[in-house]
Amino acid sequence: MNTSNQEPINSNITSGENLSYWIASSEPIIFEKLEKSLETDLLVIGGGIAGLTTAYCLAKAGRQVMLVEDGFIGSGESGRTTAHITCALDDRYFELEKIFGKEKTILAANSHMAAIEWVDKTVRLEKIECNFKRVDGYLFLHPSDSKETLDKEYEATKQAGLLTQMLPDVPAIASENGKWSIKFPGQAQFHIMLYLKGLAGAIVGMGGKIYTQSKAEDINKKGAKVNGFDVTANQIVVATNTPVNDVLTMHTKQWPYRTYVIGAKIPKGQLPYSLWWDTGDHNSKWISQPYHYVRLEELNEQYDLLISGGEDHKTGQADDENIPEEDRYVRLIEWTKKRFPAIEEIIYKWSGQVMEPIDSLAFIGKNPGDDNIYIITGDSGNGMTHGTLGGMILSDIISGNDNPWEDLYSPSRITLKTADDYLHEVGNMTAQLVDWISSGDIKEAAGLKPGEGGIISSGLKKIAVYRDEQNNLHACTAVCPHLGGILQWNADEKSFDCPLHGSRFTTDGKVINGPAKGDLKKIQIHEETLS
Ligand SMILES: Cc1cc2nc3c(=O)[nH]c(=O)nc-3n(C[C@H](O)[C@H](O)[C@H](O)COP(=O)(O)OP(=O)(O)OC[C@H]3O[C@@H](n4cnc5c(N)ncnc54)[C@H](O)[C@@H]3O)c2cc1C
Ligand code: FES
Repeated sequence: MNTSNQEPINSNITSGENLSYWIASSEPIIFEKLEKSLETDLLVIGGGIAGLTTAYCLAKAGRQVMLVEDGFIGSGESGRTTAHITCALDDRYFELEKIFGKEKTILAANSHMAAIEWVDKTVRLEKIECNFKRVDGYLFLHPSDSKETLDKEYEATKQAGLLTQMLPDVPAIASENGKWSIKFPGQAQFHIMLYLKGLAGAIVGMGGKIYTQSKAEDINKKGAKVNGFDVTANQIVVATNTPVNDVLTMHTKQWPYRTYVIGAKIPKGQLPYSLWWDTGDHNSKWISQPYHYVRLEELNEQYDLLISGGEDHKTGQADDENIPEEDRYVRLIEWTKKRFPAIEEIIYKWSGQVMEPIDSLAFIGKNPGDDNIYIITGDSGNGMTHGTLGGMILSDIISGNDNPWEDLYSPSRITLKTADDYLHEVGNMTAQLVDWISSGDIKEAAGLKPGEGGIISSGLKKIAVYRDEQNNLHACTAVCPHLGGILQWNADEKSFDCPLHGSRFTTDGKVINGPAKGDLKKIQIHEETLS
């Protein structure tokens, strides 16, 4: 299987050990490294879909734009996506109506349809060759769910102005014969890395600057330090998926989940290019009710790649359901084979992290408490449209134009009707702090084989240990530098993950996902003292 990096995690390329199809099938998108102090009008931090769309929109509006990316373009969660571009939101429209009311739900539906149109228009305008296709999508029932959900959702999507249809079957899925689905027409899909390459080329073509392997730190209203150099800017956009400038607010409004993907060969012509989603596991212990999501991508002349995802859990808490990471792929393969029996060899598997916002919609706008620092975060499983909306909305705000969705997505909004979910997730976070007094997940480092890691309790200390392929032991503190969560070993992606707010670290302690800003402190150890 073509899934693995050469080294545990090359965080320039991606944020986990397993390579996604998109990354494995494209050249890394690299620009020069920032190596001097500079001034710019607009500084965008983060080279995923949100950062690139923002830089593109503002360069097009005539602004002087600079984008800095810690790794390479797409090396964060964008490179690990499945790239359904859709207005069928993770959370149901009838739930959105309860939280935001009818008018704002119409706005939410409009905004996602507008994002799809924007991508379509931009692909054509910039002549981006990224396998972009307009396709239909189908929402069907998870076995734990009842038809009432589809009825309510159909009604709510109609009220929201979407051109959905209720169908008496699930197109192309024989095992769901006789069951209902909602058709969402006019959705889309693309190869994300080819799309990002096209956007990056267009930004540079308009005079924008992009720097890769350029990490921003000490983000403030005057700019940031990038690779230790001062970058002075009038406006700063933090598009790092989870804000790395967050001190007090955003980590209390969104929760990190890991989600799993497989890619299987399927003979061409067996299935139409479409998107499929089920309505999610209603018996799950997780608030986000994990759902399955499936699409096709062109692979070669003979085969398409069927890309199927799901089996989510809260970051760092896979074992709380007694389903370790590896078993999640097994379950996903089983689920997929049952519904798409024409699949052949599984040639990819990877996982990634999504940030689930408390009230279903992303946070796009001024960072609470700041005048010239903006954020795009909380985009859940709809990051293609939310990330695109990030660019569309921020370019209007920064240019002084009105935007119909500014208030809806404001990071400072208060939505009172989500109190139950909020308390549940806060309770989950508090429970994670018990790990301070529990023992580690392994007893001694001596038992670790090359390529394995774990958490050891040594007296009052928690230590994150990893034995590399050369048999050298690496040790760091297992206490998250964000707010002190105890890290968990992720054996699948070979990272140390924080169960509180989703910070993640390489086996050598380098931070790969915020909100933590810095690396783990290394610990000098003698193997025999770690037992
Ligand atoms: C498995 C999976 C499947 C998904 N499927 C879908 C889907 O089908 N449809 C959909 O709409 N969404 C989907 N999503 C969600 C979507 O992929 C993400 O929400 C979206 O890609 C996030 O984009 P982003 O630009 O906000 O973040 P990222 O792509 O993570 O970009 C942030 C960038 O910031 C960089 N960075 C971080 N800190 C710094 C720093 N200090 N200095 C400089 N750079 C920094 C990172 O290296 C990273 O490249 C999926 C996600 C996953 C994981
Ligand atoms: S991410 Fe907040 S404590 Fe670890």
